[in-house]
Amino acid sequence: MSSYTSSSRLTYSEYLRLNELLELQSGEIGCEREINNDETHFIIIHQIFELWFKLVLSELRCARNLLMSSHVEESDIPKVVGHLNRVTEICRLMANQWKVMETLSPQDFLVFRDKLGTASGFESWQMRELEFLMGLKNDERNKGMDPLAHYRKLADENPVYLQGLKKLEETIKEPSLEEVLQKWLERTPIQGSFLGGENDEELVEDFVEKYLGAMDNLNQKLLEQMIEHSSVDKKTLEERFNANIKSAEEYLRPEGKISRSRAGLLFIEAYRELPLLAWPRKLIDSFVELEESMVLFRTHHARMVERIIGRRIGTGGSSGVDYLDATTKYRIFKDLWGVRTILIKNSSLPPINNSEMYGFSKTK
Ligand code: HEM
Repeated sequence: MSSYTSSSRLTYSEYLRLNELLELQSGEIGCEREINNDETHFIIIHQIFELWFKLVLSELRCARNLLMSSHVEESDIPKVVGHLNRVTEICRLMANQWKVMETLSPQDFLVFRDKLGTASGFESWQMRELEFLMGLKNDERNKGMDPLAHYRKLADENPVYLQGLKKLEETIKEPSLEEVLQKWLERTPIQGSFLGGENDEELVEDFVEKYLGAMDNLNQKLLEQMIEHSSVDKKTLEERFNANIKSAEEYLRPEGKISRSRAGLLFIEAYRELPLLAWPRKLIDSFVELEESMVLFRTHHARMVERIIGRRIGTGGSSGVDYLDATTKYRIFKDLWGVRTILIKNSSLPPINNSEMYGFSKTK
């Protein structure tokens, strides 16, 4: 920076390195040819996205670092929420940015599309880094795609990808947000009981048992009402309600053993009005909002692509829109989505133990 400063006053231009930044829209390095306005627009939008990705990555790392501590201070939760909320707003903004891209007509794009050859957003390592950091696993990707193998191949072909490959190799070894969130949820005090505490397993088991019982009771009542009024036949309705309670059991007891993190999550969601659970609940909401905004970002990208290139294959060689639509099905924080299916109304919840511990005495 100091080599820049020609006077004692730091200028706007120097601080933002504007001269360098505004030189970067000419297309390939060393390309003397003037590019047209549509192509300049195409480059600027990509660059803006990559800059947002850069900020998103550092925000997510801050959130992850705060949450990965074995004891997260209460005062740190609002900070994590702050980082996540910023990312959500950026994703919302990015989802809308596709509108600017859509001002490029299919014909305008065809003017310079061939020049891109096989270059594609598919090669954006920051996007992959973001997915690694959030916790997307390879077997959850479309056709088990392996970004690291892809990057090794790219870096073999062109050293420009070595930096991206290095980043990805480092990031995949870091704990993901999903992992640290699971660990944090696992430590949720459930019915006043702490992980590792005396009788914790029995108390959590008791909570789960009572919760499933309450859910079953409610379902039976609902089933009776539906049999009377619904156009769907009794057998189908019974099967649906049975499947619902079975899926709740599998959710809370995967492979027959209680998942404390899911039980903790359910506890936070179910008793969300307890003062001590106010910030944990906000944190969970922030993760849900974040993932929702990511999904919408992907969805809007797919719609923009459909509008500009229709159903043809992408420059990266994927099926194009079909591939992009498949990525909109990705869910990283699956438990947060899953818990929604098994929530029941407040008035049917099992009574809470130790309500004073959570901030107020609740009489049920
Ligand atoms: C005319 C504009 C665009 C078109 C037609 C387009 C098309 C596509 C297509 C077809 C794919 C699938 C991979 C492939 O086969 O190429 C893709 C992936 C991708 N594009 Fe775009 N894109 C456009 C603009 C952008 C912009 C502005 C960005 C911002 C960085 C972007 C980021 C990405 C990313 C990150 C992927 C990988 C998605 C994933 O694998 O999950 N695209 N794009």
